[in-house]
Amino acid sequence: MSRYYLAPLEGITTYIFRNAYHRHFTPMDKYFTPFFVPHSKKGLSAKEKREILPENNEGLYLVPQIMSNHAGDCLKTIGKIKEYGYKEINLNMGCPSKTVVSKGRGSGFLAFPEELDRFLDVVFAGIRDMDVRISVKTRLGRDEPEEFYHILEIYNKYPLEELIVHPRVQKDFYKNTPNLGMFAHAGECSKSPVCYNGDIFDSEKCKEIQKEFPRASAFMLGRGILMNPLLLERIKGKVGEKEIRTAKLRGFHDQLYNDYRALGMGDKNVLFKMKELWCYLGQSFPGYEKTLKRIRKAERLDRYEAAVEEML
Ligand SMILES: Cc1cc2nc3c(=O)[nH]c(=O)nc-3n(C[C@H](O)[C@H](O)[C@H](O)COP(=O)(O)O)c2cc1C
Repeated sequence: MSRYYLAPLEGITTYIFRNAYHRHFTPMDKYFTPFFVPHSKKGLSAKEKREILPENNEGLYLVPQIMSNHAGDCLKTIGKIKEYGYKEINLNMGCPSKTVVSKGRGSGFLAFPEELDRFLDVVFAGIRDMDVRISVKTRLGRDEPEEFYHILEIYNKYPLEELIVHPRVQKDFYKNTPNLGMFAHAGECSKSPVCYNGDIFDSEKCKEIQKEFPRASAFMLGRGILMNPLLLERIKGKVGEKEIRTAKLRGFHDQLYNDYRALGMGDKNVLFKMKELWCYLGQSFPGYEKTLKRIRKAERLDRYEAAVEEML
């Protein structure tokens, strides 16, 4: 039986989102926090603590994610996260954002394989007595997919809990299509279980990929879930009648909206959060462009609520 994970999406898959998703739709086997960047002096920020507090994540399997190219700082952050009871930590070697890459982090780290190797060496030595497992979420490289041959040799030196591969390079950002040939190479040659991630936007695509890679340990879904939170129901063949689907979406939306409002972040920020989600969710509502525009343009909560009422 396939396993499914919710991808980390910075700013979107917050603990508020993860809880709302988990309650209203087919639960994922694993959830990941968006990345934490360690700072050598500071401890975890209030926002980071909220993300991982066990009482904010009850009943779901959460893997905190760290993005770093500094082994010492990374180990300190692993130690702090462990205090909350976590036994699995994910390392981000995939983020393509220019500000991250210019600092040699995320997928930018992949351009420095020797440093990457040294980093992993120190991190794995440092966690030897820590009772914590490390997984990696990676792209294929910075510029060329072939960089992955060498990068995978490096990953293979370490006992990774899992290797999650988004088979694009940094310079693709989200353009072009995932390189399935190179993912096949990961599947054949990785010493760790390999999870597939990238462009699973409908159940047909998911089935195609599962058929091609039956040995993948899991499938990670990101934007596909934002566009259609019922995607995993569809994949598992459990999707209900239209009324049930709409009721689930409504329940999910209202929980998300009310929980963000309850944080006291101000109406503007609540609207920003909700509109960001609608950028994706709106794609499930073809023919509703006018209502979507009203959602996008809403500058007050009452206007937003009226537009959503029409939509759901
Ligand atoms: C807005 C946005 C934020 C993201 N934030 C993170 C992040 O914090 N950590 C991470 O590993 N990947 C992050 N990603 C990458 C996703 O986890 C995922 O690898 C990517 O979207 C491809 O999967 P998908 O096609 O299923 O969306 C982000 C992607 C997007 C679009």
